[in-house]
Amino acid sequence: MTFEIFRTRASSTPAIAELFAREPDRMDRMIVRVGPLRADFSKQRVSEGDLSALLALAEAEDLEGWRTKLFAGDPINESEGRAVLHTALRGVGGTTVAEDVSAMRDRIAAFATKTRRSGRFDDIVHIGIGGSDLGPRLVADAFAATLEAKPRLHFVNNVDAASVNDALNGLDPARTLVIVVSKSFGTQETRMNADAVRDWLGAAQCETADHVLAVTANSDRAVAFGIDPDNVFEFWDWVGGRYSVWSAVGLSLAIAYGPGAFGRMLDGAAAMDEHFRDAPLARNMPVLMGLVGVWNRNGLGYGSLAVIPYSRRLRKLAPFLQQLEMESNGKGAGRDGADAGPTCPVIWGDEGTNGQHAFFQWLHQGVPGAPVDFVAVLEDQEGRPAHHLALLANCFAQSEALMRGKSEAEVRAEHADGAGAARAGADRAGADLDRIAPQKTFPGNRPSTTLTLDALTPDALGALIALYEHKVFVQGVMWGLNSFDQWGVELGKVLATAILGEMEGAPGPDDAAGHDPSTRALIKLVR
Ligand code: F6P
Repeated sequence: MTFEIFRTRASSTPAIAELFAREPDRMDRMIVRVGPLRADFSKQRVSEGDLSALLALAEAEDLEGWRTKLFAGDPINESEGRAVLHTALRGVGGTTVAEDVSAMRDRIAAFATKTRRSGRFDDIVHIGIGGSDLGPRLVADAFAATLEAKPRLHFVNNVDAASVNDALNGLDPARTLVIVVSKSFGTQETRMNADAVRDWLGAAQCETADHVLAVTANSDRAVAFGIDPDNVFEFWDWVGGRYSVWSAVGLSLAIAYGPGAFGRMLDGAAAMDEHFRDAPLARNMPVLMGLVGVWNRNGLGYGSLAVIPYSRRLRKLAPFLQQLEMESNGKGAGRDGADAGPTCPVIWGDEGTNGQHAFFQWLHQGVPGAPVDFVAVLEDQEGRPAHHLALLANCFAQSEALMRGKSEAEVRAEHADGAGAARAGADRAGADLDRIAPQKTFPGNRPSTTLTLDALTPDALGALIALYEHKVFVQGVMWGLNSFDQWGVELGKVLATAILGEMEGAPGPDDAAGHDPSTRALIKLVR
């Protein structure tokens, strides 16, 4: 019902370019800075009045009350009866767990320092999937902007054996440290990869107890696997997998890049937490980002959000956000059990400028297109200032082009003027302008946010990830969802286990296993 009102409102929202003219204070209101992060929401197609309506809805949904519950450690993950305390890992909120967190941070730092100093390992193999993989991989790439990984870091995630084979290729087992990261220590992919790596170590007479660590909430399983109890790092049930890079899940990062960098990332996230906790809603970066996303989804009706980092070192941002956003808010039923309506959009994207030569055609002229989060790093950290300027110029040009568009009149004018026609690559003499002009027209008025980081430092990265975490929280409140469970991943896991059993010789697909004809035929291909 509420979102019906948004749809009606949105139909009369002026074009973005016009909003700049109508709202003289737009730049002041729609740009927010938090430490090294600046978010510019001014190119969103949301008027001052629209934003007021969104803020009123946030109040009606008691966003501030939910935010208080989050930081207080109330069990807001109701379906699993758990608190949601990833901010406590950064030292903000969750006083009841502060002592445990601080002890774990000390343990991680001490272990990382000792391991780095020992020089015993050349390589770390980090085994995990989903939240036990995506955050560490994003961060490892980003840290590499300024730091060298020593020991080198390799990730094994997929149950596709290519993942473990590629990671182990060329490594010396005697000089390899293995870290198995799994909250449950029961995930099929991780278990199979951990078994494979344990066999690889064993074949080289390397003891599991000397080479393998676990980060888990289920230490019994880790110990049963053969890991020394002293080598188990605890992962608490109040940390969701997709919110866990700040915990011992980041141990491999602390070892490879140093506990200092890891700590600075946590501090950057803490600064964003404090901003989110304390800033008024209308000047609150995650709140504005969340509300703009709700507007784009429920007011303007967009079904996806493209995230385009103009930074190769952030190229894992979209896959990371796919889990963070879509596993958190990709849900159809609300906390009250009722239909929640359209919720999380599809999150996708790739690095700029590569994307410009692939899917940007669709962003500019496809229907319906998608809002974009552009993410750029202002400082050149690669030692090639000319490249860097070109990278930034492309980023800024794309958001301007999406907003501005190009009218049919402009296209026709270019064709009328000889010099302009040459510039615009005008068509062959005699081509039918009535047919060609619409094809060269850009509708424009396509919304985007531009996020800039002063430099890709650990603290800026921490703030960026925490920004998206809180944005997801805001949207979960607006859509009435529990953002912290993930029941939707279970059915496929159950069926995969059953099918694997059948492929291995349990009662076959022709037996009364309840499979449909298509699935039965697929199983037969392998059996
Ligand atoms: O299948 C989804 C999921 O449960 C994610 O939520 C989680 O991050 C991932 O699997 C890995 O789980 P675990 O850390 O328990 O291996």
